[in-house]
Amino acid sequence: MSDSPLFAAVDAYLEETFLGQDSVLDQVLESSQAAGMPDIQVSALQGRFLMLMARLTGAERILEIGTLAGYSTIWLARGLKPGGQVTTLELRQNQVELSEKHFEIAGVVDRIRCVQGEAVRTLPRLADEPPFDLIFIDADKPNYPAYLDWSIKLARPGALIITDNVVRAGNVLDPDGAPNQIEQDNAHAVRDFNALLAKDDRVEAVAMQQIGAKGHDGFALAVVK
Ligand code: SAH
Ligand code: DHB
Ligand code: MG
Repeated sequence: MSDSPLFAAVDAYLEETFLGQDSVLDQVLESSQAAGMPDIQVSALQGRFLMLMARLTGAERILEIGTLAGYSTIWLARGLKPGGQVTTLELRQNQVELSEKHFEIAGVVDRIRCVQGEAVRTLPRLADEPPFDLIFIDADKPNYPAYLDWSIKLARPGALIITDNVVRAGNVLDPDGAPNQIEQDNAHAVRDFNALLAKDDRVEAVAMQQIGAKGHDGFALAVVK
């Protein structure tokens, strides 16, 4: 998915400079690949960015929508305040089990709660709990507009909502021109999501495009009023 050797080389340089060796995460990525997971987890640099955003918000309660194999979840858990918890929502039971194995490897299993099911069905169950300090949206793109609405409802004032994949290699500019039907649907959904996010009075928001080892995509950031 890497668009340019230069982007990947710069990511490698930045990883070398800012991250150093991390045998735990290497092991997690190897295990994910061995289990046949697609290589769509956040990059290591994005992972550390998520960890720092958790620090910045003083997060004790983090919500993630879309676990895959738990890579981003581990980064988020590393940024928690002591005693805090990440709740991560995942459709597929086999991926919940794989993620839990990875949380043990990473020594964060006690700080993570996995909730299996369609996120549009599991999100409403969280409404009776205390609100979240940080939310990371990264599951199926067609449900992004629904995830946005739930995230705002479940967040405390001042909370940060981070959303992955809001650029889709530029397909967001012309969703109908995307190379296949699935990507057209994804691009339409993130375009709708961006428009909703930008005009929602409950948040102040921006989106930033990113290039790197994962190709060309973007994060949206929103602070809840
Ligand atoms: N956040 C992960 C990557 C998530 S990939 C990381 O960066 O490491 C997107 C995930 O969303 C996949 O695991 C997929 O199974 C899950 N997903 C897809 N549709 C879903 C739904 N309706 N409800 C919950 N999870 C869903
Ligand atoms: C896809 C999903 C992601 O969350 C991502 O970061 C990259 C690609 C996808 O479904 O194509
Ligand atoms: Mg993603």
